Amino acid sequence: MSLQNDLLLRALAGESTPRPPVWLMRQAGRILPEYRAIRSRLSGFKELVETPELACEVTIQPVDLLGVDAAILFSDILVVPEAMGLPYELVEKVGPRFPETIGSASDLKRLHAVEPEEHLGYVMEAMRMTRKELNGRVPLIGFAGAPWTIFCYMVEGGGSKEWSRARRMLRSEPALAEDLLDRITEATILYLNAQVDAGAQALQLFDSWAGAMDSDLFERYSMPRLKRICDEVKGAPLIVFAKGAGWQMDRLSELSCPALGVDWHMPIAEARRRAPEHVLQGNLDPSVLYGTEAEVRAATQRMLSHFGRGRYVANLGHGVYPDIHPDRVRAFIDEVKQSAHIGNVN
Ligand code: CP3
Repeated sequence: MSLQNDLLLRALAGESTPRPPVWLMRQAGRILPEYRAIRSRLSGFKELVETPELACEVTIQPVDLLGVDAAILFSDILVVPEAMGLPYELVEKVGPRFPETIGSASDLKRLHAVEPEEHLGYVMEAMRMTRKELNGRVPLIGFAGAPWTIFCYMVEGGGSKEWSRARRMLRSEPALAEDLLDRITEATILYLNAQVDAGAQALQLFDSWAGAMDSDLFERYSMPRLKRICDEVKGAPLIVFAKGAGWQMDRLSELSCPALGVDWHMPIAEARRRAPEHVLQGNLDPSVLYGTEAEVRAATQRMLSHFGRGRYVANLGHGVYPDIHPDRVRAFIDEVKQSAHIGNVN
């Protein structure tokens, strides 16, 4: 089945496109009343993630309702630690929580190697179903969390501002930290490759808390593992999004993945200069979408003109906030789509 809209795949392959493709991180979710309606009938978030028919339905919602150029599978990065032996909960209005965490070498005994079809079969099934259901309308993106970001949750047991416990482990128990990071890396490689086998046509690696590390920690603990993932995941183009680590662009530009995500702290010209070979994705501040429609359109125009022609995927600089009005998201998407007619992109 050939794709009707292959803008994202062409852009990720470095080809020129009539306009940039556009999608949003967290596009499938609470911004859509149609998502909230399904969610309210269920016992919780996990039921949605673990029921392939429902995950498939909410994955396709933003394609129908917002007109994005790609679908991203509805799931969560936290399914990987759970598959390794550390279950997560999602506490309403609080966020993710791990009843058990990794604090010492003996806690590693709780963990086991991940066999994607066995431990994450529901994700694979949702991927196969969604790919079939999309019927070639737009490409389907798979994803995983980067080792450091998953490590943060497994050590802290939930969200954190500073991730001080996780950083303490890097500093005070390097051997334990390396062991845990290697196990996560191994699981992530198998998981992403399995997603490709199940139908993912592009992949994104979310390193949401990359910005918590200084350059020494990043160099020692993150870079080698990001490199391994980029080298060992095959069959679909990978976007690495290291949020808050724009200042590491020089190092990130050494990764073999075709694309890098950019957050809104990073000046676009600087990102281009430091990663000249990579396709870039981003980077509108999500809070711009709290403004008026005219403000959203003007800011989107500025973003497009800064990124310039080619090698570009339009997106926000992080996930869309749940209380943003879908009409503002539509204005953002529409402005990117119209850029073909105003001639500032090739
Ligand atoms: O549309 C999409 O982008 C696909 C779905 C998706 C979700 N989580 C659904 C979700 C993706 C790609 C993720 C990734 C994810 N999960 C990340 C990396 C991206 C980022 O935002 O930095 C992280 C750090 C997580 C961990 C996580 N999961 C948190 C912190 C939370 C709670 C915060 C919140 O938004 O409420 C979740 C739960 C979660 N994952 C929700 C959704 C739609 C909210 C669940 C609900 O109540 O319906």
